[in-house]
Amino acid sequence: MANVETRRKVTAPAVASRKRNEGAEPLVMLTAYDAPGARQVSAAGADMILVGDSLAMVVLGYDDTLQVTIEDMAHHTGAVARANPHSLIVGDLPWMSYHVSPEETVRNAAALVRAGAEAVKLEGGRKRLPMIEAIVSAEIPVMGHLGLTPQSIHAMGGFKVQAKQADAALELVEDAKALAHAGCFAVVLEGVPARVAEMVTAAIDIPTVGIGAGHGCDGQVLVYHDVLGIEDRFLPKFVRRYADLGTASVEALTRFVDDVRSGAFPNDEESYHMSDDQADALGLYGT
Ligand code: KIV
Repeated sequence: MANVETRRKVTAPAVASRKRNEGAEPLVMLTAYDAPGARQVSAAGADMILVGDSLAMVVLGYDDTLQVTIEDMAHHTGAVARANPHSLIVGDLPWMSYHVSPEETVRNAAALVRAGAEAVKLEGGRKRLPMIEAIVSAEIPVMGHLGLTPQSIHAMGGFKVQAKQADAALELVEDAKALAHAGCFAVVLEGVPARVAEMVTAAIDIPTVGIGAGHGCDGQVLVYHDVLGIEDRFLPKFVRRYADLGTASVEALTRFVDDVRSGAFPNDEESYHMSDDQADALGLYGT
C-alpha cells in the first residue's frame, strides 16, 4: 500500500501536465461514492477519485445513469470529501444539470464544489462548449468525457462502442481539440477503438483517461465496484477484476447468519458484563 502521509494532494493543474509522451507516469482514476471507498482509493495511491454518476447503477440499483440528480451527486461527493483523500476529487455532473443554460450549469458545478469536489466532469463534445467555458470562467477545473457517453444512452441506441468509422473518429478528434482549447484539464475517452484513442491522445496536449479505450491513453479509469467484483449484473469486456468481494461478502454474511441461528454469536467476550455485586443486588447469579 502506498504511503499516504508522504503524498502531496493531487491538483487539476498537476494532472493537466501528465502526458505520457512527455515522460509522465500513467494517470490512475477510480470511482468512489462514500468515505470508506474514498479512503481505500486514496490509500491505494490513485491520482483521482471520480464521484461518478455510475452511482446510479452500482450503488442505487438503476439500469442507467439518467436517474441521479445534482442533490444525489452532492450528497455522495460530500461523503468522499470527508475522507480527505490525497487524490483529486472529481464530481460528475449528472444528466440535465448542464444542458439547459450556462448559468444553471455553473450553479450546479458550484453545488458539487461546495460539497467538496475539486473539479467537475461532464459528457459531450463541441455542443457543450458554452457550458464548459462558463464553468472554467468560474474557476472550476473541468474534465471532459467523449466517446461512449452513458448519459446519451437513448440517443446512441444503447451502450455501444463509438467512433468505429473513420469519419466519426475524425469528429471525435475535433471534439477533443475543442475541449482542450476551451480549458478542460483532462478528458475521459470511453468505449472507443484503441487506435482512435491513440489518435486523440496524440492530437491534444491535455491527458486522456481511458475506459474501454485501450492502452494508448495517458491514464486509465475503472469503476470501484467492477474492480473489486462487487457489481455482478454486467461485466463489460474492458473490466479487469482484481478481487471477488461480492462472493467474499456473501460468504462472510452467511457465516454471521449461521452463527446467530446456531447460538454461536455472540460469545462471552463479545458481551458486556456487570460486577458480581451488582448482579447479586438484582438477584442474578453467575451472569
Ligand atoms: O460515472 C462514471 O463512473 C464514469 C466513468 C465510467 C468514467 O463516468
